[in-house]
Amino acid sequence: MRIDVISIFPEYLSPLKLSLLGKAQEKSILNIEVHDLRAFTSGNHKSVDDTPYGGGAGMVMSAQPWADAIDSVLRLNSQTNNQVTSAENIQSDLIILTPAGRKFTQKLATKFSKGQHLIFACGRYEGIDARVSDYYRSQSNITVHEISIGDYVLAGGEVAAMVMIEAITRLIPGVIGNPQSLDEESHSMSDGSLLEYPTYTKPSNWRGLEVPQVLLSGHHAEIAKWRSEQAKLRTKRLTED
Ligand code: 6GU
Repeated sequence: MRIDVISIFPEYLSPLKLSLLGKAQEKSILNIEVHDLRAFTSGNHKSVDDTPYGGGAGMVMSAQPWADAIDSVLRLNSQTNNQVTSAENIQSDLIILTPAGRKFTQKLATKFSKGQHLIFACGRYEGIDARVSDYYRSQSNITVHEISIGDYVLAGGEVAAMVMIEAITRLIPGVIGNPQSLDEESHSMSDGSLLEYPTYTKPSNWRGLEVPQVLLSGHHAEIAKWRSEQAKLRTKRLTED
């Protein structure tokens, strides 16, 4: 999978080189590139924003640098792609990060993990001129998504992009060590709604607290039953307050 991230703070995204994602890039499972929006500004002031039409507080990010940056990553991608495969263009997903977007969920993470090319547009200030999403919605090789990671407001989309990239890329085969651990975790249970059961490791007695006896019993059916009950209890408890 190819991932391009566009931001006015590219250094904010440097943790993407670490840990599992760094290894996945070394193994060429992933190719993540971060681009500085300011490199696509025209004029001496390198300005990326302007006052909103209609008035109001804050600044709006201008369409021109965003479109030039997005066009550039689309071009780069079709070039590298054409060298190894046919001349056919790949499909890209443009993910515009905004608190006014659709809520990001595990289901969306699964969907995006099957994509070929994701472009993350990290908006700041009062958002990006709405014509950027309108323009790319009219293009056939790109699907536009406006996404929020939750009901709170961040200063910009950079941290939200990192949250999404971590949730999406760990679902790609080869990115994490033990793919089986993906099946049983919170939010990917068979009905998609249960939280994960509590987990324990050695020692069996720690500060006077015992591991539940059933987990030491070796009875797989009993253990499965206990875990399912615990998952239901935890889900009930956490969704009630
Ligand atoms: Cl994607 N961006 C910003 N600025 N705030 C957010 C968000 C995104 N998701 C939740 N809050």
